[in-house]
Amino acid sequence: MHRPLAAPRVHEPEPAGPESGPRHVAIIMDGNGRWAAQRGMPRIAGHERGTENIRRITEAAVGLGIRYLTLWAFSTENWRRPRDEIAGIMRILGEAIERETGALHERGAQLRHIGSLDGLAPDLQQAVLSAIELTRQNQRLVLTLAFNYGGRQELVSAVRSLVEAGTPADRIDEAEIGRHLYTRDLPDPDLIVRTSGEHRISNFLLWQAAYAELLFTPVLWPDFGPPDLQAAVLEYAQRDRRFGGVSARSTTAVG
Ligand code: IPE
Ligand code: IPE
Ligand code: MG
Repeated sequence: MHRPLAAPRVHEPEPAGPESGPRHVAIIMDGNGRWAAQRGMPRIAGHERGTENIRRITEAAVGLGIRYLTLWAFSTENWRRPRDEIAGIMRILGEAIERETGALHERGAQLRHIGSLDGLAPDLQQAVLSAIELTRQNQRLVLTLAFNYGGRQELVSAVRSLVEAGTPADRIDEAEIGRHLYTRDLPDPDLIVRTSGEHRISNFLLWQAAYAELLFTPVLWPDFGPPDLQAAVLEYAQRDRRFGGVSARSTTAVG
């Protein structure tokens, strides 16, 4: 049974007991290039395979009761890559959105985007906006694609937006900042997974990750399958989230 999507309460973490799974999982989909290199293939073949993997992980997420899945496909720093690779990634993303949106819609997924659409090809922008519009009523899974996304750029954009709105200094608090972020309609991530063995955040969800559980796996993104997602969810359930407070577990143990 699926809980109805509650109106998001920005920056108020929901205490999660060991029995509760993560409501919002965000994944840094890393390792496409190495996956291809290991097979003597061009990097772009890794991006093709990595993008295909989005479908099976999205389906697995629904099966695991995840309500919000955020997938990072392209960072604001990825513009530093060779021009051919960038063009290939943009083409693959555009094709995937065109190809997959119908099936996502039928399965009740609501597509969203975080990041900046500026600087993307007009047809890619249009594909994203159409997919968002088509799926906006869906409630089963909120699938957010982060591309042309960077956490610092998001904060810059939030500050600009606060200033443009003429917000007085004494009205600026955490909730107000949250309302000016790309993620204004999303709860904070409970679990952030990074594939490919890199142990860093690389400018992902800097504000929202304040109390996320972090999980790093050596598995390269194209190889990251439903069992790996399930293992991540089980690992999450073992974590003791304290949010700066005192563990419910330790107080119980002490009596
Ligand atoms: C992740 O895979 C996809 C993007 C960052 C666009 P990479 O392309 O970073 O793969 P590696 O890290 O080089 O293996
Ligand atoms: C982070 O991966 C961005 C995405 C997965 C979309 P990168 O491969 O760009 O990160 P760094 O450069 O290794 O930190
Ligand atoms: Mg990488």
